[in-house]
Amino acid sequence: MNTESWKLLAEFVAQRAELGEREWYFDPIPYLTRSSDTRAVLVEEAGDACGCEVASHGPAPAGVGADTLDELMGTVGRCLRCPLGSTRRNFVFGSGNHRAEVMFVGEAPGADEDAQGLPFVGRAGQLLTRMIESIKLRREDVYITNVLKCRPPGNRDPLQAEIEKCEPILLRQIEIIRPKIICALGRISGKTLLRTEASLTALRWKVHNYHGVKLVVTYHPAALLRNQQWKRPAWEDLKFLRREYDGVEIR
Ligand code: URA
Repeated sequence: MNTESWKLLAEFVAQRAELGEREWYFDPIPYLTRSSDTRAVLVEEAGDACGCEVASHGPAPAGVGADTLDELMGTVGRCLRCPLGSTRRNFVFGSGNHRAEVMFVGEAPGADEDAQGLPFVGRAGQLLTRMIESIKLRREDVYITNVLKCRPPGNRDPLQAEIEKCEPILLRQIEIIRPKIICALGRISGKTLLRTEASLTALRWKVHNYHGVKLVVTYHPAALLRNQQWKRPAWEDLKFLRREYDGVEIR
């Protein structure tokens, strides 16, 4: 591994240690790479305190070693690794095409999503469907999920510790789906995935790299419902997304 990879690894171990986890196994992930190096991902030991079931093969446990989305959902769907596990009604894993080339990542489930166990089914979700259709894609062709899989009480912003517990599930979803492009919905999703404190304005209109996958950032549909003046720039972002995805120009 090069210096950058060792640094990433050291940061990751330090974060895990802060969270009180003591033992890890290494599971090389060939797809999610930074530069030319294969990135090692640390997965927790089977049977830890998280309450997640353990994949039956190899040392990769706690769902992050799953090979399909169904298998992953089966192993993480009863997760209790953070307190949101005991306040949620449903674990909101994600929905859509398991071979999607375009993936949308929101922040966390809201009340409607928590009630139904599906992402983006409330008013913001209806707008998201229209946004997807506006660039001539269909909701059933893309994959939709969130950074957090459980609803924060009162729809508060996700806490850093919750994000750190939950993000490995998102990473594994991305590895399994292998989308060509990811669209982060809103600043929280964008800044979480890109590990930055940059503003939404600074993140928009750029093609970022998320572990080797193209990533663009746009407004969260809930924000668009509140602020009509952002609809025009959001439309420009969506056209940008489509162009970056497959070169199609939407007018
Ligand atoms: N907002 C989100 O970020 N995600 C959902 O699933 C619903 C609303």
